[in-house]
Amino acid sequence: MAASLRNTLRRALLYVPGSSQRFLDKSWLLTADCVAYDLEDSVTPHKKAEARRLVRQALDQPAPPTIRERAVRINSVDSGLALADLSEVLQSPNLTTLVVPKVHSASDLTFITDVIAHTLGSDTFAQRKDSLSILALVESARSLTNLNEICRATPLLQGLIFAAEDFALDLSLTRTPSLTEFLFARSAIVTAARAHGLPSTMDLVCTAYRGAEGLRILEEECRGGKTLGFNGKQCIHPTQVETVQRVFAPEVEEVEWAVRVVVADGKAGSQGRGAWTLDGKMIDAPVVEKARAIMRRAELCGVDITGLQEKWKDQEPE
Ligand code: COA
Ligand code: MG
Repeated sequence: MAASLRNTLRRALLYVPGSSQRFLDKSWLLTADCVAYDLEDSVTPHKKAEARRLVRQALDQPAPPTIRERAVRINSVDSGLALADLSEVLQSPNLTTLVVPKVHSASDLTFITDVIAHTLGSDTFAQRKDSLSILALVESARSLTNLNEICRATPLLQGLIFAAEDFALDLSLTRTPSLTEFLFARSAIVTAARAHGLPSTMDLVCTAYRGAEGLRILEEECRGGKTLGFNGKQCIHPTQVETVQRVFAPEVEEVEWAVRVVVADGKAGSQGRGAWTLDGKMIDAPVVEKARAIMRRAELCGVDITGLQEKWKDQEPE
């Protein structure tokens, strides 16, 4: 299954504090695209060693089918703890994804890649390198200005994550509900990821998680992030996962439109028409490509595409 994690669906990434057996136990019961056992900021310094042990134990158990991907957020390279984290978690064959915090420059990721290669040994690295992914947290001004070299640093890199709290600290910003202070950073991250063909772009954590008001703020943030081009979002509490996965999945109307476009395009193509009309709007190659991308993502999200193709099989171009 591991190889299929590349380019896979990663809408919600839920952090589970690695030092808490209670949280780790709870994570087995969840339905989530990606669960990330955290060894970094949710773990106090004197609990780091214990957390490594607990996370390793959790990783060694087979994944419940409701969890698509299990990641570990290690400590940053400049903390001096990353080597010990990697040495422990890389021993588990179930590890598929490393979330690397505070990636300031390409050298952070080349260090991690070298450690992985060295720890696994050349044969195992060759076997596992197509199934191991790195997601890099962008959370500093340096990181933002080095995005191109970070994106090129290692073939293991599969996505970028924006972390607002450390970024706000670095830039002496104050987070506001509108999030406009992060607009440049968020757009730069999404643009760099697209430019370098990285499939995952995960947006900032919504720190409000309690009650109806928490869910309202979360939904608004998800819609804003999706509009900017993010395809997922970090979560800190299980109650956030469902909303994130729903909003970052294609909407029903969007999928129906995409199926109609692709069905009608097949007919337009056989009539030699590259540009044609649907619902009074012009459709041409980039629109059809977008429709295909929506269908692919919808399929990963569990939408019955075959059923929809059957429903719309008579769709004609106008
Ligand atoms: N992962 C797994 N389970 C979690 C969880 C998480 N991140 N957050 C809460 N839960 C579980 C709790 O264990 C509890 O389950 P239980 O009653 O069966 O034990 C249930 O969800 C309800 O939890 P609740 O009482 O609402 O939360 P809390 O007050 O115990 O904890 C936080 C609130 C914010 C401290 C906690 O959600 C958390 O630590 N989140 C992650 C923080 C983090 O990783 N930060 C770093 C990345 S930004
Ligand atoms: Mg951080």
